[in-house]
Amino acid sequence: MKTIPEQGRSYEDVLHQLDTFACEDPAYKDGKTWSLVYYKDEEYTHFLGQAHEKFMSANGLNPTAFKSLKRFENDIVAFTAELLHADENAAGCVTSCGTESCMLAVKTYRDYARKTKGIRHPEIIVCETAHVAWFKGAEYFGVKVRTVPVDKDLKIDIAAVRRKINRNTCMLLGSAPEYPHGIIDDIVALGVLGEKYNIPVHVDACVGGYLLPFMVQAGANIPPFDFTVPGVMSMSADIHKYGFAAKGCSCILYRNLDLFRSQCFVHPDWPGGLFASPAFLGTRNGGAYAAAWAAIQANGRQGYVENAKKTMQVAEKFRCMLREIPELEIIGNPLCSLVAYRSKDPYNVNIFAVGDYMQQKGWHIDRLLHPDGLHAMITASHENVLESYFADLREAVDFVKGKPELAMAGEAATYSTVGHIPLKGIVRNTVLDTFSKSYKVSEGMIDLSDPSATSVGKADTLIRKIVMKDIRTPGYAKHLVQGAVAGVTTAATAVAATAAGIAYSAIKKRR
Ligand SMILES: Cc1ncc(COP(=O)(O)O)c(C=O)c1O
Repeated sequence: MKTIPEQGRSYEDVLHQLDTFACEDPAYKDGKTWSLVYYKDEEYTHFLGQAHEKFMSANGLNPTAFKSLKRFENDIVAFTAELLHADENAAGCVTSCGTESCMLAVKTYRDYARKTKGIRHPEIIVCETAHVAWFKGAEYFGVKVRTVPVDKDLKIDIAAVRRKINRNTCMLLGSAPEYPHGIIDDIVALGVLGEKYNIPVHVDACVGGYLLPFMVQAGANIPPFDFTVPGVMSMSADIHKYGFAAKGCSCILYRNLDLFRSQCFVHPDWPGGLFASPAFLGTRNGGAYAAAWAAIQANGRQGYVENAKKTMQVAEKFRCMLREIPELEIIGNPLCSLVAYRSKDPYNVNIFAVGDYMQQKGWHIDRLLHPDGLHAMITASHENVLESYFADLREAVDFVKGKPELAMAGEAATYSTVGHIPLKGIVRNTVLDTFSKSYKVSEGMIDLSDPSATSVGKADTLIRKIVMKDIRTPGYAKHLVQGAVAGVTTAATAVAATAAGIAYSAIKKRR
């Protein structure tokens, strides 16, 4: 177990060690990350750092104390309202991240529905491609999620939404765009439903909020997605994504004050004083407000429009280069900066094995499920790495092709199996075991390709059951069982349990 150093160390020494830790991180400055970081260049980063540093000790907890922070917040909310075509009746606040904005909307609509319609068991309707923050918010706030599938264009299936609406529905969600495939839902159609049934529509524009409006200004043809759509009652937009702020700044905005009031928390009887708070956090680093405000000032409308233009060009180039790899295909028809792609022949070219190969080459790429795929959140600075990315991707596909066994190694094993297992309980527990253990004081990093004793144990039990019952396995299940056995005997994969689970359930179905 780590201990606090007995004697304080020199600043220089500590800072040097921080640099060594940073060396282990993805090389985002070299364009190697395809999510998580929105990087321009060193000069800009330094500028944001300076703005951040000036206010890093200021505390956003009390909006009456640091007037500077309240000014930043008011400005950021007003800028965002203008950008998303809200009028002067709109109200909102700055939050720490997109997740906080989304979760707050769940709480707001739960409480608003209770207050205005007496709904005791509120439900929200979201698409299966909605960001996971919506599911997290619903779990935290005891709201039921009614999930609807996508239509043929991967947009939220509007007919399915209509069917799920009932007297408990307190919010409909659309994304602009959704994270997995970069598809913009049909916000107009959602707005029509919202108005017809008197249910507020929230648009999750965490990714698109500071990109789509500038793309439109740059001439792109994007269907309406903001407050111009009647029925859209709130939106979330992250300044720390395509607004190029420092991490820690999103904005949630409601069409009117009445809705925003349901987000706020007030406790007038606290011995610590009168207390009112608009969002989740207590103490809040003033640096995030200052850096976001500074980012908006420094980019200006023209800067953002130029960036949007460049991003569109790079994204288009990315899509063209991808189309040149015959074994792969783009998922859906993304209009902005997110691109998801998959294998045309998943058995022959396992896309997760491609991902593992790319990872070895130093690329940080997110994996997708349903369908299996890889992901790219494109920024203008990726232009410099497109050639090397696609050279490596071509090489990865050639290496992986014709080797289905690679689906059972490394992280590919985790994703290949987890994505298909019908026994969600086992998956959940296996992930929970691995994940929560990494937070034990004596543990360290999360390794998705590392076996956990529990998963191996469970796999062993399941495999024994299968073997003892001497059941003939169907082809795919057999393949997975082999993977699972390999996982147990070589202890090379954390997914042994899930693999065995798939096999077991496939066999049970057959019987
Ligand atoms: C559509 C969407 N909503 C919400 C979020 C959550 O944002 P954050 O990571 O800032 O919490 C994301 C993150 O990528 C997103 O893509």
